[in-house]
Amino acid sequence: MGNERKIQVVAGGTSGMGLATAKALGKFGPVVIGGRNVKRMEDALEVLKSAGIEAYGKSCDISDMESMKSFAEYAASLGTIGNAVNAAAVDAGGMDLILNINIKGTVNFVEAFLPYMNGSKLVNYSSITGYFYAPGREELEIWNDPTAPDLCQKIKAVLETKEVHPGMAHLGMDYIAYSASKRFTMYFTQANAKRFGQKNSQIFSVAPGAFDTPMLREQSDGAVDQIAKGTALGRLGDPDEMSDFIVHLLEDGHNYLTSCDLILDGGKSAMAMVKQLD
Ligand SMILES: NC(=O)c1ccc[n+]([C@@H]2O[C@H](COP(=O)([O-])OP(=O)(O)OC[C@H]3O[C@@H](n4cnc5c(N)ncnc54)[C@H](OP(=O)(O)O)[C@@H]3O)[C@@H](O)[C@H]2O)c1
Repeated sequence: MGNERKIQVVAGGTSGMGLATAKALGKFGPVVIGGRNVKRMEDALEVLKSAGIEAYGKSCDISDMESMKSFAEYAASLGTIGNAVNAAAVDAGGMDLILNINIKGTVNFVEAFLPYMNGSKLVNYSSITGYFYAPGREELEIWNDPTAPDLCQKIKAVLETKEVHPGMAHLGMDYIAYSASKRFTMYFTQANAKRFGQKNSQIFSVAPGAFDTPMLREQSDGAVDQIAKGTALGRLGDPDEMSDFIVHLLEDGHNYLTSCDLILDGGKSAMAMVKQLD
């Protein structure tokens, strides 16, 4: 399971932690990034190339399976795929958009890259928000059929029956859809453990807390300091801290690591879920 100049893929590699991850993965081999916005892609490629990385970009929409298949095909045409990271997600824009990108998109990414896995590693970005969402038995039955054509509609129907936590009321149903999608990401990652194991490959997810990226800035409503105070370390994470973490996990070795979710959150989930001692 060595990296030896294999192709490194990052969907959502044009911004924030995805771009930081693409940059860090450049140490292993050529990098392929994907995203929808062409200008953002060009800017990201510029960043990577000026860091001396052999970088390629291909426009793609993770919520569209055909688009993901051609993204994977393009990456595989450049060489053997070593690591594939899915950092593409949205946390606003309505339930349909969130579920399509974060849930269907995660399924599409894994399905599209699975045929190319051979001593490879696939990483999905989840979120600590996923730990704040508890799926019911009915939902798990839906989640257990992830390639169903009406997966997102079925999930949406269940989510519409849920109430938003009063503390998150300002975020509305988008918050429910986002946290459910991130819990799904962890679950779906685990559901793939055997399939990846059979290909001598590993799959796991990483759960960021609050990192200083365009996504966080856009949703923070100016309350960045407040969010930072919600961590044990009193600050936001730097995207490079997340990419260092991922690259460390993807270094040669760590070959028994699969299916789990790994948290990097500066103590944010501990602060939110556990009464802190004085
Ligand atoms: N920032 C945080 O504090 C935080 C906390 C917990 C979890 N996360 C998770 O960490 C990951 C990275 O987040 P970030 O904060 O770095 O976000 P970001 O800066 O907003 O970047 C998101 C990336 O996803 C791409 N993307 C979105 N929709 C896509 C689609 N349909 N197809 C292909 N690419 C798409 C975007 O490019 P285009 O828009 O051009 O397509 C962009 O490259 C996400 O999974 C996010 O949910 C972030």
